[in-house]
Amino acid sequence: MFHLTSNSVHFGNDSAPNSQSSSPFYQQLYKKTDVALFSQKSRDEDGSAPIEQKIDPEPKKKRQLCSLVSPKLIGWTNISAEAILKEKDDVVERTMAESGVKPGGKYQTKECQSRSKIAIVVPLRNRTEHLQVFLRYMHPFLQRQQLDYAIIVAEQTEGSLFNRGALMNVGFKEAQLLDNFQCFFFHDVDNLPENDGNPYSCPEDGKPRHMTFSLSRWNNYKPFPGWYFGGVTALTANDFRKINGFSNVYWGWGGEDDDLLRRIRFHKMTPTRAMDGYPSLIEMARYKTLTHKKAEPSPIRHKLLREGTKRLKSDGLKDLTYKKLALELKPLYTKVLVELQQPANRKAPGQH
Ligand code: BGC
Repeated sequence: MFHLTSNSVHFGNDSAPNSQSSSPFYQQLYKKTDVALFSQKSRDEDGSAPIEQKIDPEPKKKRQLCSLVSPKLIGWTNISAEAILKEKDDVVERTMAESGVKPGGKYQTKECQSRSKIAIVVPLRNRTEHLQVFLRYMHPFLQRQQLDYAIIVAEQTEGSLFNRGALMNVGFKEAQLLDNFQCFFFHDVDNLPENDGNPYSCPEDGKPRHMTFSLSRWNNYKPFPGWYFGGVTALTANDFRKINGFSNVYWGWGGEDDDLLRRIRFHKMTPTRAMDGYPSLIEMARYKTLTHKKAEPSPIRHKLLREGTKRLKSDGLKDLTYKKLALELKPLYTKVLVELQQPANRKAPGQH
């Protein structure tokens, strides 16, 4: 398995909150937090068909379902972007490949049949270093949770304002062409989960999960109020389709995440958070935010948000258009490079 050198990631911080993954309490926590794996109508408990029969109608080899809580969890990591970046590309790529990462950043758990098959969609432009840190950190993190996954990076060319929502939709559509994912983690590149007990398993249908509510850059991890839905969010593929994905009309910084939350509420879904019901374990949901220059907020985002429900049915996955310039299976991720056409009437005041 891939290990970063000990000076870049330190495991098992003594002062950290509970990370005893095998304790019955911890297992309870997982069950309670609608953690994906566990949430598919209690497969284990009611004796219904194991998940491999539901994902893959013709499994090559019947494997045992992974345990409810991965035995490979190690708890806290001290993330040092600097140290992670010191690793040489070829060394990283080789060790990752040895750990089982396939071209395109795909991975299948070896020891058992994973309970979740997830796609991580990362919207990107001009953030090469952050992407490098993200990939080098997230692969081992996801593997320790015994997930089947792929990392898909949707990258926007220059020439238009950044459109995070549309890029998420692009990632979703392109991922569907690659494989059959149960759920999607829409993931900013600069947010890194600090404890691998923070579940990246699929949420239940109807219960999209907001992951990034406790951030190093925000009030020393003080949990955000419930209106915030940015950073990292997890939805089942079904739910994402039902809400017609993200809106495509938010060009520039802000608003698309608020709009997503409104879509979720409009469809009577319940937004959830990891560790819901376990306030004493809330620290496990902490994220480290990599620093970058803050973008200029879009001045029209509030207006767009107010009119959001009028557009719901058409604006999103249904009317998404993009020009696909490249699809590359890189050693650690799938890259989809797209050009997005920003309509003249969506330009912010002063933008040409
Ligand atoms: C923006 C959101 C952003 C939030 C927190 C809001 O004003 O519209 O996109 O996530 O602030 O920064």
